[in-house]
Amino acid sequence: MIYLFLKLTQAVSLLALSVIGLIVALVFIQATTPKEPGGCGVIDTPKFVCGNYMNYLPPKGISDSLKTVFTQGKKLFNYNCSQCHTEFTDVIVGPGMKGILERRKVSWLIPFIQDSQKMIAAGDTAAVNLFNKYNQAQMQSFQLTEQEVSAILFYVGNMGSHEIVYIDSLPPPKID
Ligand code: HEC
Repeated sequence: MIYLFLKLTQAVSLLALSVIGLIVALVFIQATTPKEPGGCGVIDTPKFVCGNYMNYLPPKGISDSLKTVFTQGKKLFNYNCSQCHTEFTDVIVGPGMKGILERRKVSWLIPFIQDSQKMIAAGDTAAVNLFNKYNQAQMQSFQLTEQEVSAILFYVGNMGSHEIVYIDSLPPPKID
């Protein structure tokens, strides 16, 4: 009888210990997982800095699929571009992105963002002028697809805007 009682308490304490262990593990995972705002941690890279994350909401009234594009563009911009560019007019390393879609054609922006040095080397006048204006500071190239660059442009074109800027010339956003 005593033997059985001992066995029972042993089993109960083992169970209690495992439950405590599980709770501790869950709390730990919760504490170390990056949190929103703005989908911090969604981009799977340890270099991603949540502290600088700008969390603009998509303009009101756009479709769900365009909201997805906006959010995708925001993440890509924050991760790849925000250390050198703001969404406004202020210059960090490169020019602010405000009004970029009025300043430049999308057909110029996509290859420039993918590989600006290639365009400079090819002698594209606008790219060379810009490079000289910004003291020949190099903008690195990016392995971004046309769709991803489009999403970035949709984000910087509409971020904080009340009037939605639709970009007809963009390739249709691929949403899956
Ligand atoms: C290391 C800094 C750096 C990063 C990162 C960077 N850029 Fe640039 N960007 C520049 C500089 C500097 C220029 C000015 C042109 C030059 O010097 O080549 C520029 C120019 C541009 C221009 C042309 C602006 C205009 O007024 O015509 C666009 C558009 C642009 N960048 C978009 C982006 C996007 C989008 C990303 C992210 C995918 C990005 N850049 C990442 C430094 C950077």
